[in-house]
Amino acid sequence: MLNRRRFLTIGAVAAGGAVAFIASPASSSAGDSGAASDAAMRAMVTPMNVRRVALLPNGQAFALPMPIPPVLQPVPSSSALIDTYRLNVGQATVELLPGLPTKVLTYNGQFVGPTIQATVGRPVRVIATNNFTEPIAVHLHGGHTPSDSDGYPMDVVQPGQSRVYNYPNNQQGTMLWYHDHAMGLEAVHVYSGLHGMYVLRDHSEDSLGLPSGAYDVPIMIRDADLDTDGNLVWQPVNINTILVNGVVQPYFQVAARKYRLRIVNAAVERIFRFDLGGGEFIQIGSDGGLYPAPVSRTELVLGSAERADVVVDFSRYPVGSQVMLSDTTGPALRFDVVRTAPDTSQVPAVLRALPALPPATVTRQISMKFDFDSGMSPPPGTINGAAFDPNVINFQVKRGSTEIWEVTNADPIALNIDHSFHVHMTQFRVLDRQGSPMLPDDDGLKDTINVPPGSTVRIQATFRDYLGKYVFHCHYLEHSVLGMMGQIEVIA
Ligand code: C2O
Ligand code: CU
Ligand code: CU
Repeated sequence: MLNRRRFLTIGAVAAGGAVAFIASPASSSAGDSGAASDAAMRAMVTPMNVRRVALLPNGQAFALPMPIPPVLQPVPSSSALIDTYRLNVGQATVELLPGLPTKVLTYNGQFVGPTIQATVGRPVRVIATNNFTEPIAVHLHGGHTPSDSDGYPMDVVQPGQSRVYNYPNNQQGTMLWYHDHAMGLEAVHVYSGLHGMYVLRDHSEDSLGLPSGAYDVPIMIRDADLDTDGNLVWQPVNINTILVNGVVQPYFQVAARKYRLRIVNAAVERIFRFDLGGGEFIQIGSDGGLYPAPVSRTELVLGSAERADVVVDFSRYPVGSQVMLSDTTGPALRFDVVRTAPDTSQVPAVLRALPALPPATVTRQISMKFDFDSGMSPPPGTINGAAFDPNVINFQVKRGSTEIWEVTNADPIALNIDHSFHVHMTQFRVLDRQGSPMLPDDDGLKDTINVPPGSTVRIQATFRDYLGKYVFHCHYLEHSVLGMMGQIEVIA
């Protein structure tokens, strides 16, 4: 990605050499857990200066089917009202490239963690156990979650320990995902594999008749670099390997009918621009749930952590066709249309109205930038001039109130650094943008948006139900590790 490359160049010049940009999370984070990047992780993730990139041998692209991460089964539980799941964090070895073992971090041994299928109104309890050597924190991204279950960066599960997270699921149905959020370690942990999908189903949507069952497919896309020994390279720049549900350039056999594809960008720092070679995506929703009405698109733009809910009608393609889902950097996933199938699904013209926007009573400014004047390399990431400090509350927000936040990417335009903005606990609406055009997804319910260089975006959110501390941050996770994170405290 051009922006990042440019930035890394700046970092490298300042450091006087080609050093890994974030070789040591400890250098940039407050608190104990940030210092914990231990030998195991260092061995697992090769620094840049020994970077030798492994590529899929020619002719082997699209040799493997796209797996669908298994749906996690609840543990037998004492309550019929709650589904309880176990997520065990630990190292595992997988083959991302044929014949090359790669050490990764996983939930339950699976490189894309198991999918949790939840239902609106039915709570989920997750018992997370840390079998790794560093602290972890499980965060349900996009979840409307009590503060003590949100995966607050300092609220970690130490090695050998377990803890319980409660997800009430009292929000609109949508595609969420869970990932690590331990202080200073979120970037390397997510990059190493601590990511999984969480499909929040909404029975009030059943009557819409959208494609369902086997035709409702979760797809997590991310990038990775591997050295010639198969190690993940922790220098996510010029990344040339795209993984779809954990497999490099897979194929997926489809019937000539409509499919609902729920796509998650789980890359640590990347904007994907997907197309179907001119073919149509009918986008029906984004981060926070369904759109009011379907929108026809030929391109999907997803920054890190963003999701798109789309329907693709493969009946437009004759059996025998191959339909490529490509990013601007190259092909990612090939759909092979292999058979016909009956299709009673539909995409109705009216989906679901967005929730009302109550009047805002508070307006706040949030400025994101790197502190290049600090003389530090890499420079601290800042929010309103300061790197994240767990002891500092940026804003107190009254529970139930609606606020407008004006979020600015304040880095010099010439450096061309994208930031993104994500706030925990609530979804928001995008009101407008200055300095850059509205993005296609800005009309939906969002929890993560891109904030291009030199621009300001105004968002509006209601902070309902829960009290306590929640973070907001740039979701290019290298930036949040460097301090580009703040926090609110929701008060009564
Ligand atoms: Cu995707 Cu603070 O999280
Ligand atoms: Cu989040
Ligand atoms: Cu950023």
